[in-house]
Amino acid sequence: MKIVTTIEELRGQLRGQLRTAFVPTMGNLHEGHLSLMRLAAKHGDPVVASIFVNRLQFGPKDDFDRYPRTFRGDCDKLEAEGVYVLFAPDEREMYPEPQEYRVDPPRALGDVLEGEFRPGFFVGVTTVVLKLFSCVQPSAAIFGKKDYQQLMILRRMARQFALPTQIVAAETVRADDGLALSSRNGYLSTDERAEAPALQRELRHVVEAIAASSLDGIVRAADDARRRLVERGWRPDYVSVRRRADLAPPEPQDVERKEPLVVLAAAWLGGTRLIDNLEA
Ligand code: PAF
Repeated sequence: MKIVTTIEELRGQLRGQLRTAFVPTMGNLHEGHLSLMRLAAKHGDPVVASIFVNRLQFGPKDDFDRYPRTFRGDCDKLEAEGVYVLFAPDEREMYPEPQEYRVDPPRALGDVLEGEFRPGFFVGVTTVVLKLFSCVQPSAAIFGKKDYQQLMILRRMARQFALPTQIVAAETVRADDGLALSSRNGYLSTDERAEAPALQRELRHVVEAIAASSLDGIVRAADDARRRLVERGWRPDYVSVRRRADLAPPEPQDVERKEPLVVLAAAWLGGTRLIDNLEA
């Protein structure tokens, strides 16, 4: 695997490649990321990965400074997956001057759910992803459904800017007890790690209600899930049922028509914020 740190080297390395499949990451790679690399290999050749902890998407109180950086171990894992090029720029390379041009996602998609609790997050994500796409010029890029809203926003960005990059969704990888894999799981204490799968179990209860209820019943199920999390010591930001197509809250006719829905949640367990979702 070739490791490049500048945009110039990257472009030199990829010159003439027309079917590049790209997996952007912030490092601290786990099995979830590696599943994205494997899916990438099915959608293009060569596979390019990036590791860049993007300051733009962190708020002032977020964990930018303590975000786990495990570069050597990450390289070994990517090498073992057969990744062709790893692009690992530093901040000076990605943002040599203040990044004043930014991508502003539509309010209805970008200011709800994660966007409500992490103002500026999606502007940071879309801006860096557009810039990474400009560096790599991939024909396909892979994003996990674990970050469901991010995936939707990036998919719409690619469509509205007519980017020549197919956005491919990868299923969430879970531990045996159901916890969605995430770099932030490493922050959990032993007791918190044992409690963490409760989030996914609560989402499952809401999915069951969706199969069996009217809109009122579904909303009640989400409220109940939230209340039970609080009783177990969590501090939920949201537990919400949305339409998969546009993340809008469902109307009664959506439930009647069996419009595809998704349940999304974000909740704090001690000092760690976990997010998860399940499609219904
Ligand atoms: O999902 C992530 O790891 C990040 O948001 C991404 C897409 C690599 C952009 O920094």
